[in-house]
Amino acid sequence: MIENFDAHKQFTIEKDVADFAAKFIIDLASSAIAKKGIFSIALSGGSTPKILYGKLKEYKDAIDWSKVLVFFSDERSVALTNEDSNYHMAMTNGIESLGIPKDHIFAMKASESISENADLYEEQIKQHLADASFDLILLGMGDDGHAASLFPATEALDEKEKLVIANDVPQKKTKRMTFTYPLLKKSKQILFLTTGANKAEMVKTVLTTPSIEHPASLVTNHCNKVLWALDEASASLLK
Ligand code: 6PG
Repeated sequence: MIENFDAHKQFTIEKDVADFAAKFIIDLASSAIAKKGIFSIALSGGSTPKILYGKLKEYKDAIDWSKVLVFFSDERSVALTNEDSNYHMAMTNGIESLGIPKDHIFAMKASESISENADLYEEQIKQHLADASFDLILLGMGDDGHAASLFPATEALDEKEKLVIANDVPQKKTKRMTFTYPLLKKSKQILFLTTGANKAEMVKTVLTTPSIEHPASLVTNHCNKVLWALDEASASLLK
C-alpha cells in the first residue's frame, strides 16, 4: 500500500463503478448536509464520469440538491457551450437535471483571460468553502498519468501556493485551467474513477510507484483519503 492513497475498490464493469461512485457521493453528501448544511464537490471532466453523472439522476430525491455546491477540477480553454468543455459534458450528461440552483454551479471560464479567471475561480472557492476544503473532489486519470490538468512535465506540477492556475499543456497545444496539488491536499476526500483496459498499465504504475512523471500518483490530501474506483479491465495488472 503506498502512502498517498488509502484504498482501491474493483468492480466487474464500468456500470458497477458508476453505481458505486453515485452511492459514495450521495452518502458523503447526506452526512455533510446533515452536519453543516452544505456539500461541496468538484467534478472531473473527460469521458469516464459521463455514466456517473447520468446515474446521479436516479438519486434526485435522495438529498436536498439545493444544498450542494458544484465546482470543476479542470477545464479546457473552450467556450462553456463547446462539446469539449468539461462543464458542458457534466451538465448535459445529468448534472443540469438535479435541481441544483444555478448560483451553486461554478463553471471555470477558461476560454479567455485564463490566468485572471483562474485567480477569480480561486477567490470563489475561498469565498464558499472554509479553508478552500472540498468535501469531495472527483478525478479521472489519463493514460499518461495526468489528473485534472496536471499533465506530466508541466509548470502546474511545481505550484506550491496558488490553488487554481492556468497550465500550459504542450501535449495538447493549449492552456487549461486546473486545480493544483495544494488545493487537492486541502480536500476531505478524493475519488478517482478509472475504467478501461487502456488505463491498466498506468493504473499499475501510479498505484505502485509514485513519481512526478505520473502526476496522478502524487495526488493526495491532508488526511490521505484517496479512493480509486476501478473496473476489472483497468485493474487487470494489479496483484
Ligand atoms: C479532462 C479531464 C482529465 C480526465 C482524464 C481522463 O479535462 O480531460 O479533467 O483529467 O479526467 O484525461 O479522461 P477520460 O475519462 O476521458 O479517460
